[in-house]
Amino acid sequence: MMRNRYYIKTYGCQMNFYDSERLKTLLNKEGFSEVKDLETADFIIVNTCSVRKHAEDRAISFLESLKSSKNKKVFCLVGCTPSLYKEEIFERFDFIDIICGPNSYKKFVNTLKEYSGGKIGLFEEDEILYQETLVPYIEKGKITSFVSITKGCENFCSYCVVPYTRGKLISKPINIIIEEIKILIDKGVKEIFLIGQNVNEYGKDIGENFIDLLIRIHDFDEILRIGFLTSHPKDISDDLINLFKKLPKLYKHLHLPLQSGSDKILKLMNRKYTIDQYLKIIEKVKKVSPNISITSDVIVGFPYEEDVDFEKTYKVIEEIKFDDLYVFKYSPRPKTVANEYPDNVLKEEKERRHQLILNLQEKISLMRNMKMVGEIDNVFIRKKSIKKEGTYIGRTFNNKPVLIETDIKDIEGKVLKVKIIKGERHYLWGEII
Ligand code: SAH
Ligand code: SF4
Ligand code: F3S
Repeated sequence: MMRNRYYIKTYGCQMNFYDSERLKTLLNKEGFSEVKDLETADFIIVNTCSVRKHAEDRAISFLESLKSSKNKKVFCLVGCTPSLYKEEIFERFDFIDIICGPNSYKKFVNTLKEYSGGKIGLFEEDEILYQETLVPYIEKGKITSFVSITKGCENFCSYCVVPYTRGKLISKPINIIIEEIKILIDKGVKEIFLIGQNVNEYGKDIGENFIDLLIRIHDFDEILRIGFLTSHPKDISDDLINLFKKLPKLYKHLHLPLQSGSDKILKLMNRKYTIDQYLKIIEKVKKVSPNISITSDVIVGFPYEEDVDFEKTYKVIEEIKFDDLYVFKYSPRPKTVANEYPDNVLKEEKERRHQLILNLQEKISLMRNMKMVGEIDNVFIRKKSIKKEGTYIGRTFNNKPVLIETDIKDIEGKVLKVKIIKGERHYLWGEII
């Protein structure tokens, strides 16, 4: 009997979740089927992230925790972690059978079909990377999907492992993206999020550009909402900012990682912008689209971050008032330039700075959400909420989640007029009018 049942678990960024869905499409096409129960699986696949040590450890210890049930199961570690450590993985974790980097999933599927034992490492890139349209697996009734538009990154921010795990920037040709979107539309998708490590660099290797791409996608009548992430401040153009006014179906939302409020630290991070430049972008964006939501990432405890540097970060956050913020404690990563610097902010101090910013952001996010109370907005209804019976979850024009209690049925995928009645830290509440 063919072993064809797989269990898949995903860690990491949107890119990894997108890859997992595409891997499912590939596997299912070849006669495999997904199981949600670990015990019944023949293959356990863990899609991993190495962006911080904690993320890396979580994925591996998940697989390790299943060692006792290893009997007849094949353990597969895929994604960024194997890409970073290659065959070293086998030396460190002898219970793992197959390892595969993020650009070799076609080879991975062929390997699973024929697998009869032994240790296998797959890192050579699939030739078909972009020659074949391969859409993510869409569960019945799902109306939203990611579409990746680039792979890799060549910015080499000094703390970041991504250029080493995902390689060079390669843009997906526009015709392939459009093809993918048409297939997704046929499956009922109405909302698209374009993803890439830095979407603003889309096309620079193939003579295309991100703005034309957005406009092309906006032309599809079936697509009701479009979002994108992530953006790098060094690549935000005025033309892009103006699209927030020109394209009505584009979410008025910009995720623009700040990383630090100190020019000294930004320089050490190799971010290629200053705080002044960052603030100017924010000013322009808010001028074009006054109620836009802006979210960001910050790292605390980077090497040589002194109290004065941290205070600058704190002050900038107070000044900008992000709608939401992801705060990370610096984690040294192999192969990166910053790994050569001393990790010289003490653990307790990183913890303290982390907590201070989290506390600050709590207040700011709540305030930003409360400010929306009373507004009437065209909300895209995504799905039923699991939070409460009779409640739907939608997205405001600026991509904030809003919970709506209503007796009206089958409103998923519609854009409805909603009045915001309450703002909490993570959610808005609204009623249909
Ligand atoms: N390409 C995206 C995402 C990179 S990873 C971007 O450029 O923003 C997501 C976030 O993780 C980064 O923005 C950064 O804030 C954080 N991060 C990356 N490497 C890190 C490290 N070594 N330690 C702590 N946080 C890190
Ligand atoms: Fe990493 Fe910087 Fe590339 Fe983002 S832009 S993936 S932080 S190297
Ligand atoms: Fe992690 Fe790889 Fe994404 S390191 S953040 S899964 S690109």
